[in-house]
Amino acid sequence: MTGRGIFVTGTDTAVGKTVVACGLARGFRAHGARVAVMKPVASGATRTPEGLRNADALALIEAAQATTPYALVNPYCFEPPISPHIAAKEAMIEVDIATIRRNFETLAADADWVVIEGAGGWFAPISERQTMADLVWALAVPALMVVGVRLGCLNHAQLTRLAIEARGVSFAGWIASGVDPAMARTAENLASLERLLGEPALAVAACEPGAAASLTLEAAAARLAQRAISF
Ligand SMILES: Nc1ncnc2c1ncn2[C@@H]1O[C@H](COP(=O)(O)OP(=O)(O)O)[C@@H](O)[C@H]1O
Ligand SMILES: [Mg+2]
Repeated sequence: MTGRGIFVTGTDTAVGKTVVACGLARGFRAHGARVAVMKPVASGATRTPEGLRNADALALIEAAQATTPYALVNPYCFEPPISPHIAAKEAMIEVDIATIRRNFETLAADADWVVIEGAGGWFAPISERQTMADLVWALAVPALMVVGVRLGCLNHAQLTRLAIEARGVSFAGWIASGVDPAMARTAENLASLERLLGEPALAVAACEPGAAASLTLEAAAARLAQRAISF
């Protein structure tokens, strides 16, 4: 019995993917599941004696209490905080989807859930020819969309959802993420998102200081577990 994967994408970069992915990892753990995590491609990293380390990957490892080697979680880690395909080219490294899939299968063999966080939005390029969307399709996992609730999100949410389905990837649902403390008419926007996306949010993460460290999405994890039957 191998674990199920869930790929956390978003309407843009800095919309709350890491906060949500960590919250889900904690949520699955709270239900007693064994959780593995992946940040397969990351740009923006710190040099350490052990090698480059990306903050998202470390946050995911912490949330999942994962003991797996870092390189399995984050096989492609680039130092500059720029588009991964440019960072990879500068480092003369080819991001290989087959390698990421092997890592995923290794992690899934010992886990009930593998929570995977993308880099950037749905069509963020990871090489000259491939985007995050190609990686998700190759992993054959459903995509969960984090909607960063800010001006413009009604458009970005619809575009991202359409793009997920156009790539032949299952849509696992969406989570609203309060990333803008100055957002006006939040309730009206959430109602509009529900109508435009045709389904209610699996969870709404309010804009709260400290959300990154403490959010636990138990209810969303439970709903995903139920939904996974039909993926
Ligand atoms: N619910 C929230 N309330 C307040 N701040 C949030 C919330 N969710 C995310 N943030 C903040 O927004 C920023 C972007 O979130 P992050 O999860 O890193 O986005 P992404 O992974 O999509 O780049 C971070 O500084 C994070 O702490
Ligand atoms: Mg992130």
